[in-house]
Amino acid sequence: MVKIAPSILSANFLRLGDEIRAAEAAGADLLHIDIMDGHFVPNMTIGPFIVEAIRTVTSLPLDVHLMIEEPDKYTGDFIKAGANCLTIHYEACKHLHRTVQQIREYGINVGVSLNPATPVWSLEHVLQDIDVALLMSVNPGFGGQKFIPQATEKIRTLRRLISEKGLSTSIEVDGGINLNNTAEVISAGADILVMGSAFFNSKDYGKVIEHFREIAGNG
Ligand code: DX5
Ligand code: ZN
Repeated sequence: MVKIAPSILSANFLRLGDEIRAAEAAGADLLHIDIMDGHFVPNMTIGPFIVEAIRTVTSLPLDVHLMIEEPDKYTGDFIKAGANCLTIHYEACKHLHRTVQQIREYGINVGVSLNPATPVWSLEHVLQDIDVALLMSVNPGFGGQKFIPQATEKIRTLRRLISEKGLSTSIEVDGGINLNNTAEVISAGADILVMGSAFFNSKDYGKVIEHFREIAGNG
């Protein structure tokens, strides 16, 4: 079953608790939380305290996407705050394999993300150690950007690589996803779709998920 992960980056932060409860009630599978440090990406968002607060209002798995330099310094804080899957960026890690192992020791899911210009082959030697490979389909930092079309080919290549290796790593796609490109992204091989602005800017979250499931064939 293909999953949908609304990204709270586009939620109304003054009513964050209500927004999250509404996303859960609408049938979201995961809650995607974007952490930005103003260094790895040109924007800043939230830290572990807010993730800890979010943990208290939902039972959805928290899919925490770290767009930060030196993620090793903070992985423990986000795991203690309640992350169920912690995704780090390939481009931010000097010793990617070590950071992956450090997260794994806590027993939660581990993801590694690639920026649009980073080739999928960069993941070849850690694929067997991770649960999720997150392909960015926009340059990270902001919600509401346009899907970069080359991402579709990257999804296909990664899907091939994962099947050749006989692995069950999930492919997550993040950036510019909406109901018009959902079918294309799923048929290329995505398992989890992050949806920020197309979800939270819609009037009816339940309808978005209903349409998503029709397109994904799991309605
Ligand atoms: C962008 C973030 C995304 C963002 C996606 O850097 O990683 O998760 O929220 O937002 P949309 O779906 O609006 O592109
Ligand atoms: Zn994200």
